Amino acid sequence: MGSSWSCCGNEKVDEATNRISGTGNATWRIFTYKELHAATNGFSEDNKLGEGGFGSVYWGRTTDGLQIAVKKLKAMNSKAEMEFAVEVEVLGRVRHRNLLGLRGYCAGTDQRLIVYDYMPNLSLLSHLHGQFAGEVHLDWKRRMKIAIGSAEGLLYLHHEVTPHIIHRDIKASNVLLDSDFEPLVADFGFAKLIPEGVSHMTTRVKGTLGYLAPEYAMWGKVSESCDVYSFGILLLELVTGRKPIEKLPGGVKRTITEWAEPLITKGRFKDLGDPKLRGNFDENQLKQSINIAALCVKSEPENRPTMKVVVSMLKGYDPRGKVMPTRIRSIKYKEELLELDQPSDYENDGDGPEEKGYGVFGAMEEQKMQDPYLHHGKSRKMARK
Ligand SMILES: Nc1ncnc2c1ncn2[C@@H]1O[C@H](COP(=O)(O)OP(=O)(O)OP(=O)(O)O)[C@@H](O)[C@H]1O
Ligand SMILES: [Mg+2]
Repeated sequence: MGSSWSCCGNEKVDEATNRISGTGNATWRIFTYKELHAATNGFSEDNKLGEGGFGSVYWGRTTDGLQIAVKKLKAMNSKAEMEFAVEVEVLGRVRHRNLLGLRGYCAGTDQRLIVYDYMPNLSLLSHLHGQFAGEVHLDWKRRMKIAIGSAEGLLYLHHEVTPHIIHRDIKASNVLLDSDFEPLVADFGFAKLIPEGVSHMTTRVKGTLGYLAPEYAMWGKVSESCDVYSFGILLLELVTGRKPIEKLPGGVKRTITEWAEPLITKGRFKDLGDPKLRGNFDENQLKQSINIAALCVKSEPENRPTMKVVVSMLKGYDPRGKVMPTRIRSIKYKEELLELDQPSDYENDGDGPEEKGYGVFGAMEEQKMQDPYLHHGKSRKMARK
């Protein structure tokens, strides 16, 4: 953005608010509350696409016919308001075909709304476990396209944009799908809204149980490798169709890595493929994807590949040589932590808009999260850096 930007209604307004920002034909602008209110039918329940950690998302259509998704943020304090503006600034700069960029925002005295392009195929979550799960739109080719595209979006955030951005909440509901099933990673700006400037939240960890890297869950230690870990879980979820954490009869919860581990050890790769694909997948690609995921979910962050390496491997070229079959060493979350895991809305797969997602314990206090995982029942200590 330019020299000054608008943040709260009664302040300086950037003379260039309606200009083209970034590259390509992507533009963003400031919307009025009235305009967004009208576009979303007064933020009606019927227009609600879902609800996440930051607020609710509504479908809308502007007077010039553009379909939008409006994220209405929950009330925040004045410090956070400034953070909001900074994040909007970051979002406005980021341009990549696999990242959901900013279409605009509205910042009134007590309202903060973010406007994105509406993604007609909604999220990966809705296809794997939500309202489209029964329709099987995701054939193997599309799944590979989604894996590569979302990895490329992350690579851009980690290595190409300045300053680098760590997403911190990579998960199926944050991978949106356009009309051509091209993936767009969403919510990369807001993950950073919480910690800075809101002092009582500085010791909190935001994320979704099942996708969280152990060092982040334990000590709030954030690095690009946390995203790599989450991407590994996402990749497993994409090719197997399993949920990151599932409830077994009797209430016991099992992580996707715990489920996959014995099958990988026995070399039963075919049994790892999503049954909905009815065997219609490329077995070599499936093996390769599982191996890449196994590298991504290694417990020590320094042993995980970078997103650059992940993208090369997904595209079939591994700069470190042939990917050797890797065993997954699954992380077992402690019972207390699993109990805090919120009930999944997609347990009753099917109709209705996507609700809160699953396994969310956004903004959990760090001290509750000591040693949240065990390896095969044995407590495992990680060296504090
Ligand atoms: N641009 C969009 N087009 C279509 N659906 C969207 C769009 N943006 C968000 N959604 C959907 O709206 C729902 C709520 O999104 P939101 O980002 O608020 O929550 P979340 O992704 O579940 O959790 P988090 O707050 O951690 O991101 C999700 O199902 C998401 O896929
Ligand atoms: Mg989201």
